[in-house]
Amino acid sequence: MTEYISLKQLKEISDLIQSKSTHRPTIGMILGSGLGLLADEVENADYVEYSQISHWPESTVEGHSGQLVIGNLEGQSVVVMQGRAHYYEGYSMAQIGLPVRVMKLLGVKTLFVTNAAGGVNPEFEPGDLMLITDHINLIGMGGLSPLRGQNIDSLGPRFPDMMNAYNNVLRDIAVGISSEIDIGLRQGIYASLAGPNFETPADLRFLQVIGADAVGMSTVPEVIVARHSGIRVLGISGISNKANLDGNTPTSHEEVIEAGRVIVPKLVAMIRGVLKNIV
Ligand code: HPA
Repeated sequence: MTEYISLKQLKEISDLIQSKSTHRPTIGMILGSGLGLLADEVENADYVEYSQISHWPESTVEGHSGQLVIGNLEGQSVVVMQGRAHYYEGYSMAQIGLPVRVMKLLGVKTLFVTNAAGGVNPEFEPGDLMLITDHINLIGMGGLSPLRGQNIDSLGPRFPDMMNAYNNVLRDIAVGISSEIDIGLRQGIYASLAGPNFETPADLRFLQVIGADAVGMSTVPEVIVARHSGIRVLGISGISNKANLDGNTPTSHEEVIEAGRVIVPKLVAMIRGVLKNIV
């Protein structure tokens, strides 16, 4: 496990990736559990396997593959992470944040981040899309930050602000697209936990009380790294299951993957729509 990653190491990684593709992406995408199919839609794609990149965290979870897909989507130059790693897989927080730092060095200005999440808001149903309006960083409040260690001043400040973490302009565009293409879009707050266990009913009641609408095991570390270095973020959760607030309905990874099949076509339409509308 690599605890800290230097700017020199980050530059070596971005140089390696640039040597494998002539695309110069300005938009990055991280695809969550069961949502990786979107990467198959990238045109003129170059592929870089995670296993070829030193320190890059590889996913060990079913439903995640492991490669960067670099190419075009809706006329934009994109770098897509087909598969992401999670803290619970044994990586350091620095490694979880590494791909976003590398994206920054590659020239990425905008990050789309997606995940599968449990619906804590009782109105949410499996298959719904939720635009993330803000997050509750429970994993960070517990002391785990991808920014821990010496600050890399050329990337961003020691104490980065987290206001407007999920960019207003991108959110407005996403809401507009959802009504244009008639996809119901929920909005809400995403709470991040470390996992890999799902929550107890008492955990979930706590999350509800503190104002969470959805819960998951990813996204927030990557968003913090993105905001630290000035990358703007659009976050969308696919609601894969209803949180087991009553204590009678077990949650399983299979239902998370299954819901991905319903969510992917909607998510693809949303992301394509937003891509068409951003400069
Ligand atoms: N809890 C935490 N993470 C999740 C869930 C959940 O219910 N569903 C998908 N990811």
